[in-house]
Amino acid sequence: MFLAKIKENNLYKLIGTDNYDIKYLNKAINMYNNCRYLEIGTAYGGSLSSVIDSLMNKNATIDSVDYFGKLLDTLPHVGPDLKGKKERHEWTKSIIETIGVSNSVKLYTCGSNEYFNLLNNTKKFDVIFIDGDHSYRQSKLDLDNSLKHLDDNGIIIMDDIKLNTQGLDKYNSVYRTFEEYDGRKELYKDMGIIYGKNNKINFLD
Ligand SMILES: C[S@@+](CC[C@H](N)C(=O)[O-])C[C@H]1O[C@@H](n2cnc3c(N)ncnc32)[C@H](O)[C@@H]1O
Repeated sequence: MFLAKIKENNLYKLIGTDNYDIKYLNKAINMYNNCRYLEIGTAYGGSLSSVIDSLMNKNATIDSVDYFGKLLDTLPHVGPDLKGKKERHEWTKSIIETIGVSNSVKLYTCGSNEYFNLLNNTKKFDVIFIDGDHSYRQSKLDLDNSLKHLDDNGIIIMDDIKLNTQGLDKYNSVYRTFEEYDGRKELYKDMGIIYGKNNKINFLD
């Protein structure tokens, strides 16, 4: 019902996230009552819109983070300019207002490092979607920080685990971050799954 309203208002804009990511994000959210959800990389709120019905059904609390700064190790023409970034933020804000979910969704306009610094050490999430800067350096920081705040039964979904992203080769991109991680993980197409310490489920079907 929320997604339908977003589409009716021509506000649905998904960038670079595949249908299977959406399918599994919804599946992950549906495993947790009062789901504590974090997304890094809001953009136009496309992935958020794609899971908003599941989130609202699960009485979720939602943090979504994007920022106006530069991608690490990436050529300057990759990604939007400052004006484009501000436009994305305004776009997502208007989605939240249009569907009336501002009590559940908090939008942050800061880099993910700064966002994690704001969090209390005890703050935990059930589902974290990492879809921000896909450089090795930043995605590694995002994964390390996410692991500190992942519930032991939680799950992380990482997007774009492919050989080339942001014009970066596999040694400079999120591919390497995922490859180096030595806990329980699974790869489905370009989507990386990382399980919380006590999470014994087999998530992929
Ligand atoms: C691939 S897009 C996200 C797409 C979105 N999840 C969707 O499905 O439509 C990546 C976003 O991450 C943001 N980003 C890049 N570096 C970031 C960082 N360090 N912290 C937070 N967001 C970041 C970019 O500004 C961009 O909007």
